[in-house]
Amino acid sequence: MKILRNKYEMAAQFTLWKKAGLRIGIVPTMGNLHDGHLSLLNSLEGRADKIVTTIYVNPLQFAPNEDFNVYPRTHEQDFAKLRETGKCDAIFLPEHMYEEGHATTIHPAGVALGYETEFRPHFFQGVATIVHKLFQQTGADIAVFGEKDYQQLQVIRQMVADLDLSVEILASPTIRETDGLAMSSRNGYLAPAERQIAPILYQIMQETADQIRGGSPVDTVLSQACNNILASGFSTIDYFRYCNAQTLAKADSHIETGMLLAAIHLGKVRLIDQLKV
Ligand code: PAF
Repeated sequence: MKILRNKYEMAAQFTLWKKAGLRIGIVPTMGNLHDGHLSLLNSLEGRADKIVTTIYVNPLQFAPNEDFNVYPRTHEQDFAKLRETGKCDAIFLPEHMYEEGHATTIHPAGVALGYETEFRPHFFQGVATIVHKLFQQTGADIAVFGEKDYQQLQVIRQMVADLDLSVEILASPTIRETDGLAMSSRNGYLAPAERQIAPILYQIMQETADQIRGGSPVDTVLSQACNNILASGFSTIDYFRYCNAQTLAKADSHIETGMLLAAIHLGKVRLIDQLKV
């Protein structure tokens, strides 16, 4: 497993692979890897000849009040986990991604509007810009993203279509702890008492999904769910909504391609989750 520390080392490697006719799959991450990330590598099995995991904490997707400085950087543990999978051919670990004077960014609209953007207006501009740069720098033929960050996945799909990028996008299902909590690097910030509360979100999402499938009025079901979330000890709700999974447009009654999207604060942690309904 090679460690490539800048775009020149990465380019030298992908040029060799391309010359050999190999298909490159990438797993973009910000590090602090957990089983959710490792499942992304698994999902590339049989779809890529070489797998590159990228690790870069992207300043452009953090607002000044967010956790960029304290975001867990656990390179040695990450390397060990990746080595253990036996599936990762290289780690792309650039120190810098923005040269002095960098001034070009991607501003996604469409599926980027609403939800996360209402609360983190800077976020998708940062994500789209770094993901585009990672595609370019790694020579990716296929890239895999987790469905947990569902709006992010849709924004990336839209960027690929809109900008005619020749990278296939693969979605990988949300991986959960045994109690249902969606895996996330930020779960590590939860205090023990909060960690007990956190899985209740998924329970409430499942109950809500059952009620929507059963034909109950969506608005009523969602507002009851929000009351239950707050009564369970969560701090505030950014959103808890039901939408069309392709367009992210609000859905007022059960639809074939429906999805619940949630972003909920618990202490200092903002949990996000999704569930197909
Ligand atoms: O989902 C993430 O970890 C990040 O948003 C990504 C896609 C690696 C871009 O920095």
